[in-house]
Amino acid sequence: MSLRGQMLLRTRLAPVSAQLPAGIRFKGTQNQSPKFKYRGRQKSPEELKEEEEHQKYLEHINSGSRIRRWGAVAGSQAFQKSMIKWYILGYGVFMMFGANHFRKLYAKDVEKKDLLDKRGNGGVLSEWESLRLKELAGEKLRTTDVLKLQAYHQLKEKFEQSQKNLSDSEKESAVFDPSPKDIEDIMNKSPLESILPAKDLTPFYNELAPKYDKEIGMEETLSFIGGRRKWVMKHVSGDVLEVACGTGRNIKYLDPEHINSVTYLDSSEKMMEITHEKFRKKFPDFKKAGFVVGRAEDLVEITSDQGVKYDTIIETFGLCSHEDPVKALQNFGKLLKPGGRIVLLEHGRGQYDFINNTLDRRAENHSKKWGCRWNLDIGELVDMSGLEITAEKRHHFGTTWCIVAKNKGDSLKKEEIGFFEKFFTFAGSKDV
Ligand SMILES: C[S@@+](CC[C@H](N)C(=O)[O-])C[C@H]1O[C@@H](n2cnc3c(N)ncnc32)[C@H](O)[C@@H]1O
Repeated sequence: MSLRGQMLLRTRLAPVSAQLPAGIRFKGTQNQSPKFKYRGRQKSPEELKEEEEHQKYLEHINSGSRIRRWGAVAGSQAFQKSMIKWYILGYGVFMMFGANHFRKLYAKDVEKKDLLDKRGNGGVLSEWESLRLKELAGEKLRTTDVLKLQAYHQLKEKFEQSQKNLSDSEKESAVFDPSPKDIEDIMNKSPLESILPAKDLTPFYNELAPKYDKEIGMEETLSFIGGRRKWVMKHVSGDVLEVACGTGRNIKYLDPEHINSVTYLDSSEKMMEITHEKFRKKFPDFKKAGFVVGRAEDLVEITSDQGVKYDTIIETFGLCSHEDPVKALQNFGKLLKPGGRIVLLEHGRGQYDFINNTLDRRAENHSKKWGCRWNLDIGELVDMSGLEITAEKRHHFGTTWCIVAKNKGDSLKKEEIGFFEKFFTFAGSKDV
């Protein structure tokens, strides 16, 4: 400020301080002159906005709320600028993984095409190749398939490791072509080893019969098995055969209006006595009911002289206690009328390793209490029997199996065809 300006200020200020009442002083010492601010230039709207935002930022930071504080930091320019390098890095990593993923997908596609070509040209696929094809095509894999595939993949990994030190020409001539013998050792240590040998459980169930209902009742209530039994009985119609009927626990869900006849079969005489008693009590006037003591494995021989066939064959929690469940299922197929259905409610292996490990570990204890083998892959048994599954639902971590099956070559019913198949695959087909 010019000297003249300072002089002027002093003279203008003097009367003001002189007018102040006694005791009132400017802040500061007497010889300090008060500080004045000159009005500077007007702030631009951007500057005002920036100031306002900064004010808000401080408010959020000091608000005491962790969420508002985080929001303020995340929204600040400094933070966003510092994040750019992370965005770029993340994008780079994403692109790298993406490229790797697509490279693998492409390799799988080529592998699948090669296998299909080989089969299409009349070549015979080895066990490894057909399992690999199933895997690549996303087909359903049963327990044994999964375990075999795991074993083959282990071998493949070793094979690839051993290839690393080879020259290019040696690599080209080496082919991974394993045989079932090569995985025998691995398979012998697989969980399948914990599946107990099958045996005839007729004496066991004869002894269990009087206490069976009482002992199983609470367990079934807690796991809502009643609803599943209802599901089975909704499928019955026409001439019905119930195999391994036990103490007739499905009788209470039977609607005689929907059936023409019903035949009960069980290998245990004592269990059958209870079924007979229950049925007669509930349906005293229903004439066409038969009660046969015999084994499911002998069904074809048992019925051969009568030449009977059935519209519906049902079995609940029975396959696990048969000596030869696959033969039993094959018999069901032989006794089925065209268009007939086999409806199964069974317990077996689950969909998760932690469940299956428990089932395997406790297989022996369970068998001692209930006789049966509770770690069988029920779907695999049905596949092995040659029947075709039209519906498969699983509950209780996959350990409760609800299956509807038919003979191969038998047509699907309209209600069994899925929405997409109905419109895109089967529309107009003679099978429907
Ligand atoms: C766990 S109980 C199930 C009983 C009944 N189905 C239920 O849902 O409660 C198994 C039944 O299968 C019968 N069973 C076992 N092996 C059999 C076989 N090979 N043929 C026919 N029945 C058999 C037993 O006698 C027993 O009644």
